[in-house]
Amino acid sequence: MNATFTSAGQKLSGPSGIQELMEDLGQALSGDPAMRMLGGGNPAAVPAVQAIWRERISEMAANGELDRALGNYDPPGGNPRFRELFADFLRRECGWKVTAKNVVVMPGGQTAFFYLFTLLAGRRKTGAKKILLPIVPEYIGYANQGLDEDAFIAMKPLIDEMEGNVFKYRIDFDRLKITPDIAAICLSCPTNPSGNVVDATDLQRLRSLAEEHGIPLMLDQAYGRPFPGAIYVDWSPVWDEHMIISLSLSKLGLPGTRTSVIVADEKYTLALANMNAVVALANGNLGQQIVSPLLKGDSLIQLSNTVIRPFYEAKSLSASAHLHDCLRGRADYALHASEGAFFLSLWVKNLPIPASELYQRLKKRKVLVVPGHYFFFGLEEDWIHRHQCIRITYSQSDQAVNEGLEIIADEIAQVTAKG
Ligand SMILES: Cc1ncc(COP(=O)(O)O)c(C=O)c1O
Repeated sequence: MNATFTSAGQKLSGPSGIQELMEDLGQALSGDPAMRMLGGGNPAAVPAVQAIWRERISEMAANGELDRALGNYDPPGGNPRFRELFADFLRRECGWKVTAKNVVVMPGGQTAFFYLFTLLAGRRKTGAKKILLPIVPEYIGYANQGLDEDAFIAMKPLIDEMEGNVFKYRIDFDRLKITPDIAAICLSCPTNPSGNVVDATDLQRLRSLAEEHGIPLMLDQAYGRPFPGAIYVDWSPVWDEHMIISLSLSKLGLPGTRTSVIVADEKYTLALANMNAVVALANGNLGQQIVSPLLKGDSLIQLSNTVIRPFYEAKSLSASAHLHDCLRGRADYALHASEGAFFLSLWVKNLPIPASELYQRLKKRKVLVVPGHYFFFGLEEDWIHRHQCIRITYSQSDQAVNEGLEIIADEIAQVTAKG
């Protein structure tokens, strides 16, 4: 660690789980075609979706939209016309009572959460506050965020075990306490890494707790509804002024545009736009321009429901079935119920080595996964469970996924047999 850097500088520039994951992903994409990329959260190349983005870019090049988008800075909260269109879309498709003032464009969900955690977590005149994660495992990309130390306090989940080597995490509401040092509640839904979806009853309980304590409930819908629709259970998007919702264009197949939207009370959208001016001046405007026409009718919803959801749901089903076939009888394991997102969360109960070592062994065999310990940040005590889990992404080609799963099962069978 470089002592010439500030504490915040050291926190952000030091090694981290998300940095390791993104390095792995970048190296596999650019340097090693043999590597099976079951690690990062890159969306799949879905041909029907790619065709739509290609067509839009040709249209934009022909009608002058591209020149206008490339050649101009937008205001820091996003293009005013896009914000209007987006608010109309949310009112129409989700029934949310929002205006353009409740919508702010950000340079990706990752940056939006950095701004939000910086706004809310950390020292202030009245004492330090933290973000409560009501359930972990939670998104690795939050872990090193916030400028102060320890931005998070997390709750261990309950684990429901079901027939057929399946389990599901649930929020332990009996232990969930909102103390005065909690600045906000935050969760991703569907959850990265587990694929868990918090049901309507539990979501309502979190909303009531947030409202009762006058704190926001942040809900990260990077995979869910209204788009991109990688959610395989019934679930209706809800919003009220106590909620801060994050939506992103990334999992629609546009991660390269670095565009997301936060939907929140105006006090937050204004603060985020102002922070964006200081940190980034403006957002990239290509993503906003590309999707704008799809916001006008129901084509974004159609694309999500009829192309993206079936694509990922089929991949989830086939990857889960293949992994069960490969592991059954060879290890004491369970797979998290796959209710959304792009991942399988594998729990090997009799794993004799930490998941970080399993990750290294698999990397040597040209399979990238993410070891579980990274997803359990904010817990006050260590928990053996976090070293028994790995996250496996199934968005790549069926061949890469199936070969990767076979190698994962083989390695687990070897280490548990020796164990
Ligand atoms: C749960 C979750 N939130 C946020 C992000 C950040 O996405 P982006 O910055 O591309 O919008 C990701 C990316 O994988 C994610 O999985």
